[in-house]
Amino acid sequence: MKIPTHVAIIMDGNGRWAQQRGLPRLLGHREGANSIRACVEACQQAGVQYLTLYAFSLENWKRPMTEVTGLMGLLESFLRERTDEMLRKGIRLRAIGRLQDLPASCYQLLRDSMASTAQNQAFTLILALSYGSRAEIVDAVQSIARDVKAGKIQIDQINDQVIGDHLYTSDIPDPDLLIRTSGEMRLSNFLLWQSSYTEIYVTPKLWPDFRTTDLHKALEDYSNRHRRYGGVAE
Ligand code: FPP
Repeated sequence: MKIPTHVAIIMDGNGRWAQQRGLPRLLGHREGANSIRACVEACQQAGVQYLTLYAFSLENWKRPMTEVTGLMGLLESFLRERTDEMLRKGIRLRAIGRLQDLPASCYQLLRDSMASTAQNQAFTLILALSYGSRAEIVDAVQSIARDVKAGKIQIDQINDQVIGDHLYTSDIPDPDLLIRTSGEMRLSNFLLWQSSYTEIYVTPKLWPDFRTTDLHKALEDYSNRHRRYGGVAE
C-alpha cells in the first residue's frame, strides 16, 4: 500500500457532535482532543511521518470567549499530559501559526514541549494554532520584500522555492493527503499554498467519532489515487 509521507487533517464537527447530544460545545472539543491520541498513534504505526492538525484557526478567535478559553485549556492539558508520551514514542512536536497570539502560559508550555521533543525523529506532529494560510502568505511576502529591499535577493529570483522557504512550513514536506471530517467540502484557509497537489479526502464522520478504522479508510483511498501533478496518466 502506498502510504502518504504527510497527512493533514481539518478536525471539524466537534460542535455538532456536542449539539446532537444536547451537550455544551466544549465537551465536543474535549472529545475531539481525545480523538487526537489514537489518530497520532495510527498514523505513526501506518508509516506516516508528518501529521498536521488544524487545531485553532485565526478566525477561531472570533468565537465566544468561553469557547476560546476552553480550547486554550484543552491545548494546555494536551501539552501537560502528552509531552512525556511524545518523548517516549519518538514524536517531535512542532507548531505553525501566529503563536505569539496564544495566552502566555500556553505559548510557554508549547515552546517547552517543542524544545524537549526537538531531537525526536520517528514522527513529527504539527499543530496549526492561530493559523491562517493567507496570513502565512502575507508574512512570507513581507519577509521576501524586506530581503529584496536589503539586497539579499533580486526580484526575478523569487520563485516557488523562495516562497516555500518563507512559509512556516519551510522544512516540512507538502501534505500528500488532506482529510476533512464532518462532510464539509472546503479548505477553510488551511495550507493553501502547500496543498496545491494534495489529495483531498472528506468523510461525513464528525471529528470526535473519527477512529483508527476511519484513518485506515482514508489511507486506503489515497493508496488508490493516481497523482499526476498536472501531467498525463502513466
Ligand atoms: C472544529 O469543530 C474544531 C475546532 C475549531 C477545534 C479543534 C480542536 C480540538 C480537536 C481540540 C483541541 C486541540 C488540541 C491540540 C488539544 P467546530 O467547533 O467548528 O465544529 P462544528 O462545525 O460542528 O461547530
